[in-house]
Amino acid sequence: QEHRSIYEAIGEERLHALVDAFYKRVATHPELTPIFPDDLSETKRKQKQFLTQFFGGPPLYIQEHGHPMLRARHMPFTITPSRRDAWLSCMREAVFEVGIEQPYERLILERLTMTANNMMNTPEDEK
Ligand code: HEM
Repeated sequence: QEHRSIYEAIGEERLHALVDAFYKRVATHPELTPIFPDDLSETKRKQKQFLTQFFGGPPLYIQEHGHPMLRARHMPFTITPSRRDAWLSCMREAVFEVGIEQPYERLILERLTMTANNMMNTPEDEK
């Protein structure tokens, strides 16, 4: 059991529920609405593909879109420390809403925090 991936542990259904719960919050967060599209359906679809592979499931994102190059794909958007915090708080609430057992809850938030830190591209005062 200890070698299961996060994806295997939580399952496709909860992963999709997590992404839906996350973008429901992004859609109303004042720090995030300025940079996200109004229609989040395509964003959601890609994020389901991405997080499936990020958490050890089948490589759905790379099959359709190629190498993620996440930092480069985020460069068009102004991502300050407060936007990173907003993104992570939406994700934390989504993880709690969906209900994920330990250690997976902790592992998911740790991995997303590391990647979110890497997406920052603008200091707070240049916003
Ligand atoms: C796309 C913001 C962190 C994964 C996007 C988009 C924005 C954004 C504005 C474009 C949405 C669209 O046009 O459809 C942010 C902000 C973050 C953050 C503010 C805060 C640090 C992350 C993290 C991950 C991630 C940590 C992965 C663990 C993605 C993916 C896409 C995306 C997979 C779709 C890329 C594509 O177009 O193929 N993000 N993001 N983002 N983000 Fe983030």
